[in-house]
Amino acid sequence: MPEYIHVSVAWPYANGDLHVGHLAGAYLPADIFARYHRLKGNYVLMVSGSDSHGTPVTVQADKEGVAPREVFERYHKRFLQTQKDIGISYDLFTHTDTENHHRIAQDFFSRLLEEEYLYRGTQRQLYSEAEGRFLPDRYVEGKCPICGYDEARGDQCDNCGNLLDAMDLINPRSKTDGSTPVVRETEHFFLDLPAFTDRLLDYLNHDKEHWRPNVINFARSFVKQGLRSRPITRDIKWGIDVPLAGWEDKRLYVWFEAVMGYFTASVEWAHNTGQPDAWKNWWYNPDAKIYNFIGKDNIPFHTIIWQAELMGVDGIYEDDATQHLTLPYDVPANEFMNVEDRQFSKSRNWAVWMPDILARYDPDPIRYYITAVMPETRDADFTWDGFVARNNDELVSWWGNLVNRVLKFAYKHWGGVVPDPGALGPDDLALIEKIEGGFESVGALLSAVKLRAALTEAMALAREVNVYLDQAPWFSVIKEDKPAAARTVYTAICAIDNLKVLLAPFLPFTSQRLHTMLGYEGQLFGDQQIVTYAESTRTHDALIYDSTPASGQWAPVRTAPGQKLGEPAPLYKKLDERVIEEERGQLGK
Ligand code: MF3
Ligand code: ZN
Repeated sequence: MPEYIHVSVAWPYANGDLHVGHLAGAYLPADIFARYHRLKGNYVLMVSGSDSHGTPVTVQADKEGVAPREVFERYHKRFLQTQKDIGISYDLFTHTDTENHHRIAQDFFSRLLEEEYLYRGTQRQLYSEAEGRFLPDRYVEGKCPICGYDEARGDQCDNCGNLLDAMDLINPRSKTDGSTPVVRETEHFFLDLPAFTDRLLDYLNHDKEHWRPNVINFARSFVKQGLRSRPITRDIKWGIDVPLAGWEDKRLYVWFEAVMGYFTASVEWAHNTGQPDAWKNWWYNPDAKIYNFIGKDNIPFHTIIWQAELMGVDGIYEDDATQHLTLPYDVPANEFMNVEDRQFSKSRNWAVWMPDILARYDPDPIRYYITAVMPETRDADFTWDGFVARNNDELVSWWGNLVNRVLKFAYKHWGGVVPDPGALGPDDLALIEKIEGGFESVGALLSAVKLRAALTEAMALAREVNVYLDQAPWFSVIKEDKPAAARTVYTAICAIDNLKVLLAPFLPFTSQRLHTMLGYEGQLFGDQQIVTYAESTRTHDALIYDSTPASGQWAPVRTAPGQKLGEPAPLYKKLDERVIEEERGQLGK
């Protein structure tokens, strides 16, 4: 029975380009995982979108002197292209400023209010007398009350990862003008998190052996420390209206509504594809598995707050009020990816921007390197010499050259078809069976979201083919003993054919090229497309994936003797070491 797998991917703030940290933190792992499950023949729904609202966007808009909408629309467009180019295969990548998202976020608000999980309260908040307005948390900086980091933001400390309240910052200062804000009272709605304590503990203590230790430990101790109600409205203009009279000056807090995007985008996807109820296969299905792919700075929102929101809206959109929306099955948060030993910094331009790297290098080598050093258990480091070395010494020399050598040889000596091996010998069969074992071993690692180890395992299998070829007769015997050479070459082709599938989640572009070179007509994956959708008052662009060719090709194949090969061409290029210095020279400029 195919499984229903939901791949919920963190929504990037549309306030700047994507960089390799985004890719390593959430998008690439999510994509590898989704592609694997599609190859397995499971029903995958992978969604995300631009996080259009909130102060990250308004801060950038203020800096440029333009409206927030202009900033978010610009980066949203760029996100679509970048993610298409690097092959992040969302079924739908939309944004949070759609009518659909606004409506459902307001429905969630209303339902939570009806169930009395929201209440009004006053809050003391920092107010800028110079600007004559309340300062959103992100507009305030100061010393973290927990770890003492001096540049903590009002909403969160990037050093210790804790969520903060700007009021708790030591020596707060306005980010706009450095002035010291004063305290004033303001009215907001609060989400009654303490009301969910028992249900959250129950959820976090039940069947979580597969969670990463840092994620589950963080979540459990977050609840055990005692949950506090959190304000979910803000004194800000850019965002989603509070659906109540008298609240016209306030908006829903960006985090409160952005996490709902996993749900709202699923509804939008179902609508767009003409099966308006299809989202229920994941969200009203207790057997569906929902995975949240996020960076570690997002853990509280994806292990506590989003769950509370889901628990609090039982009965929304359904006749049977006892039916619950599906809670996340796993939250495989990644750590951070530094660049050349330093933390990413937008202001210092210490970053590898995705549009830049994609302009100069092919997507699969980038995907390969980022997966090879993926920060699954600790922070990792993107280095340009690492990128060049992994490309040249692993991707090209273990895999690309193997494919090229074998296919060129077969193409030349057997008239462009897969040679007929007759009966295979024990060594030949041993190799094929070893590679076929990869569907189990690599598959188990992929299922467990151990992607780095899965890639290592697949590449170790590729090296086995090299070892086999070093010992088997082929190159030197082609003149005297062509049948022996045919057995070896057939065996190697068959191994390559299987490895192509094992590597496809990581290297989808070159696996597809190889698929064609091996003489297959179909596609391993669907196509990605940027499209425009119209709603009643506005249109929006989105990235979508054509899931129709989905296939269940995650299974051993025996290549057919006589199959006509396509013209072989190298899959990868060796990189000149000079690029290391060139690329490093761009950092911090
Ligand atoms: N926009 C947030 C960030 O970039 C992530 C939001 S994930 C979401 O950190 F699910 F809440 F949208
Ligand atoms: Zn801190």
